[in-house]
Amino acid sequence: MNLTIIGSGYVGLTTGACFANVGHHVMCVDNNPEKIAKLLKGEIPIYEPGLEEVVKTTVAAGRLQFTTSTEEGVDFGDVIFIAVPTPPQSDGSVDLRFIEKVAREIAQVIKSYKVIVDKSTVPVKTGEKVADTINRYKPDVEVDVVSNPEFLREGCAVDDLMHPDRIVIGTNSDRALALMQKVYEPFLAPILVTDINSAELIKHAANSFLALKISYINAVSQICEASGADVEKVAEGIGADKRIGRHFLNAGIGYGGSCFPKDIAAFIAISEQLGCPFTLLKEVEAINANMKQRFLKAIRNALWVLDDKKIAVWGLAFKNNTDDIRSSVAIELVHALVKEGARVTAYDPKGMENAKMLPWADQLTFADSPMDCVDGAEALIVATEWPEFASQDFLEVKNRMLAPLIFDGRNLLDTTTMKELGFRYTGIGRGVA
Ligand SMILES: NC(=O)c1ccc[n+]([C@@H]2O[C@H](COP(=O)([O-])OP(=O)(O)OC[C@H]3O[C@@H](n4cnc5c(N)ncnc54)[C@H](O)[C@@H]3O)[C@@H](O)[C@H]2O)c1
Repeated sequence: MNLTIIGSGYVGLTTGACFANVGHHVMCVDNNPEKIAKLLKGEIPIYEPGLEEVVKTTVAAGRLQFTTSTEEGVDFGDVIFIAVPTPPQSDGSVDLRFIEKVAREIAQVIKSYKVIVDKSTVPVKTGEKVADTINRYKPDVEVDVVSNPEFLREGCAVDDLMHPDRIVIGTNSDRALALMQKVYEPFLAPILVTDINSAELIKHAANSFLALKISYINAVSQICEASGADVEKVAEGIGADKRIGRHFLNAGIGYGGSCFPKDIAAFIAISEQLGCPFTLLKEVEAINANMKQRFLKAIRNALWVLDDKKIAVWGLAFKNNTDDIRSSVAIELVHALVKEGARVTAYDPKGMENAKMLPWADQLTFADSPMDCVDGAEALIVATEWPEFASQDFLEVKNRMLAPLIFDGRNLLDTTTMKELGFRYTGIGRGVA
């Protein structure tokens, strides 16, 4: 099939490459000329494991192409996927300007029947508005609007797209459904067909549930700290129950990233607009914010005054295996430390180039390796769960530091080992060693 993706970021580019990988012909559109210029030169503008290989192979096979022209894209595809940003507004509700603009742009150039697919995460009833918009500007061309939310995780997006748990297709049109089933046939994954509104709701409800699980274990971690229990063991015990599951029961300094904070805020705003406020989710947010504050407080308690202290931070990306620092808790922590006068040296295997673009990046020192990062530091903070951090030579880490103090915001390191090596180790919900 001929498929078009409008918006070639983390979701759009990876989705386009994976569609091309299973044999479709794909045109990825982006209105950022620098991004498209890079892609045309064979450069991948983001870090996502395995993506470069898939892009290179499918481009070489003539099945993946790039353009800045929406018109060219709309002419090309039988199915047009929209994968543009849906950022939060200051009240938490979703800023739908990018989606609305794409709907208008499509209406300006569409010449024949197309299926328009919302892949971006959008509030329930957005599909109706996209259809209205296109019909308003181009009443004589028939379109079907479909909701097809994306569940990929950054860091393993290629694998998630090639082997999804489920594919959700929300549509009221048999014609559109037949085309969508053809798009996804090669993926051999279960397809759930719903109406448009249900499909849109599934995405916000799913992300909110995952965030709730994280805040649940984080609240439990506070009780563990107060009672001398170990949250890792508690999570193992809870998670072994198949009805609950072990995933997303990792205590830490809270969820961040470009999706969870905005999607939970959006679901709260949506529920309020619909007159059924989802107050439970406000508590989820409050617990999440509190985890950062508790962690900072523990650091202040240990170091007394942060001003002029050299602090090493391992991790800037919002999670491991990505270069994405959008709404990263690690970045928020570093910023808070810098604002209190600490001299922060940071290291992240993939996130440093993006961090160097932060407006306050000149107040940070970037290290070349985890080991260089800890030189002369009075405390080491583990802020992102990159596995390579756990396999460092901690005897050398200790020798290089000014004082052997570790704050592990991701419970990445082994408490007993750290204690035996002579560190003062603080994890989350594991007491102070
Ligand atoms: N990143 C994730 O892990 C993830 C997972 C599931 C769903 N989502 C959702 O997918 C959507 C996209 O997220 P993302 O992380 O890929 O964003 P992104 O910022 O990485 O990419 C969006 C791209 O859209 C382009 N764009 C904006 N307006 C455009 C226009 N009018 N025409 C053409 N291109 C345009 C931007 O230049 C950018 O390259 C959001 O709704 C997000 O919530 C993201």
